[in-house]
Amino acid sequence: MEPLIRIPTLADGAAVHEVVLACPELDANSRYAYALLCHEFDQTARVAEIDGVVVGFVCGFRPPRRPRSLFVWQVATLPAARGLGLAGCMIEAIVADSRANGQPIDHLEATVAEHNLASRRLFAGLARRLGAPLAVEPYITAETFGAMKHPAEPLIRIGPITNQRGRGG
Ligand SMILES: CC(C)(COP(=O)(O)OP(=O)(O)OC[C@H]1O[C@@H](n2cnc3c(N)ncnc32)[C@H](O)[C@@H]1OP(=O)(O)O)[C@@H](O)C(=O)NCCC(=O)NCCS
Repeated sequence: MEPLIRIPTLADGAAVHEVVLACPELDANSRYAYALLCHEFDQTARVAEIDGVVVGFVCGFRPPRRPRSLFVWQVATLPAARGLGLAGCMIEAIVADSRANGQPIDHLEATVAEHNLASRRLFAGLARRLGAPLAVEPYITAETFGAMKHPAEPLIRIGPITNQRGRGG
């Protein structure tokens, strides 16, 4: 069956949490946090379903000081569904819907560790398709994480977005 990209509801929180738990690259937050994100930040989140099963999700928000930016907080696709373009499609759907709703997102932001090649390619592909330059700047350093030994998370900033249609639409 064709994958379905849709806006999440509060009830998706548990399935989204399961997707995160299947991705060791991500810091897992509580089930409560994902329910809240799916419900209260639904316009800046999407889930991807195949055969009625949630196989991917993205959650983000508009930073209060940059309300035309989408800060992508977490994006994940279950290993078995990777490489199908789902992550890119979910993010593009948020951008496209923001324009349709008259509150356009014109920049994408995300922090991505240097070694996360799939994630870097995801954002490079989005920049290409959305016709926007991509810049990387320091943001969260390794020191910010203290004794956790977490690698630095530089900020990727894409924009201004000029190609409103992205892939497919
Ligand atoms: C990053 C991630 C969300 C991409 O999901 P996806 O649905 O496979 O993404 P897409 O199919 O849209 O592919 C995005 C790009 O990554 C590339 N890619 C996919 N898997 C890859 C891998 N294992 N290694 C390198 N590149 C990879 C794709 O070829 C594509 O690049 P292209 O547009 O140049 O062809 C997924 O790999 C994932 O869930 N990783 C674990 C969680 C994570 O690290 N999230 C990001 C940090 S918040």
